[in-house]
Amino acid sequence: MFKKIFMLIICAVFVNFFSACAAQKETQPEMKNDFVTLNSGYKMPRLGLGTWTLDDDTAEDCVYYALKVGYRLIDTARYYGNEVGVGRGVQRAIADGIATREEIFITSKIMPSTYNSPDKAIDDSLKNLNLDYVDLMLIHQPGYNDEEVYKALERGVRAGKIRSIGISNYYTPHDFDRIKNIAEIMPAVVQNENHIYYQNENLQSYVAKYGAVVESWYPFGGRGNTRKIFSDATIKQLAQKYSKSPAQIILRWHLQAGYVVIPGSANKNHIAENFDVFDFELTADDMNLIRGLNKNRRFENW
Ligand SMILES: NC(=O)c1ccc[n+]([C@@H]2O[C@H](COP(=O)([O-])OP(=O)(O)OC[C@H]3O[C@@H](n4cnc5c(N)ncnc54)[C@H](OP(=O)(O)O)[C@@H]3O)[C@@H](O)[C@H]2O)c1
Repeated sequence: MFKKIFMLIICAVFVNFFSACAAQKETQPEMKNDFVTLNSGYKMPRLGLGTWTLDDDTAEDCVYYALKVGYRLIDTARYYGNEVGVGRGVQRAIADGIATREEIFITSKIMPSTYNSPDKAIDDSLKNLNLDYVDLMLIHQPGYNDEEVYKALERGVRAGKIRSIGISNYYTPHDFDRIKNIAEIMPAVVQNENHIYYQNENLQSYVAKYGAVVESWYPFGGRGNTRKIFSDATIKQLAQKYSKSPAQIILRWHLQAGYVVIPGSANKNHIAENFDVFDFELTADDMNLIRGLNKNRRFENW
């Protein structure tokens, strides 16, 4: 009798364990080299152009050029003051037959100073961008009523103004949970500072359980810090080994480590160089070498 009960308990434990693994696998974002399928069902390109600090005219030019050389993900924010320029670059590329609207993935963000009127902020962004919908809208950073802002993003999805929603600058599972616990639509993306010196793997694996993906900002440390990252001895050594630039090695690491990444640039040579990373692969040993560079050190503190 005892033996039978014991066997039943063992079976139940095994069944639970395997179904938990299967359930977890189902919610993990499907990751390909160039696209990830978000928990919203939409596909997001994994390498995009960041546009922080670009003015409207520069943003227009850079976005157009980036789309021309193959980028399909563009990152902007109301705070950057360049949504109009980004929108113009996108419209120009569509008019010239470079890509269709459906093929282009546009991210914008709700700015902290508009957190008391988030529904209007969504409409304003669409107007600035001259678009009917954005592919991804993020809360730019935690704030006094960010949970209400998240509810506005959910209304935006239901109204067809936004396809996927997420959060930015939430660095711990606890930060993520605060939004997840009030969410009716799970965050699809967490956009955070993330680079070779700040590899927040803990958050990445935590949010993956909910099908969310981490998108890296400051892959090169941000303006003013790039020399520190590009002159890292390991990165330089790998650049030589693969006959690629330090920037390309770093971007390749982000892609293979399972991140979406959005290097910023106002330089056409850099924009083209940063997209030329799909013809090589870092070995597992070299991925581990870069993993070992982590210092848990951010460049910013917001
Ligand atoms: N959610 C947030 O709070 C947040 C915060 C910061 C950034 N972001 C987003 O993340 C994006 C990336 O961050 P970021 O642009 O600030 O910093 P970044 O991508 O780490 O670095 C940009 C710097 O790298 C240089 N660069 C780019 N490609 C290069 C190459 N191949 N060789 C040499 N230098 C190169 C750029 O100069 P050139 O212009 O001369 O190429 C610029 O000085 C932003 O543009 C923005 O869209 C989001």
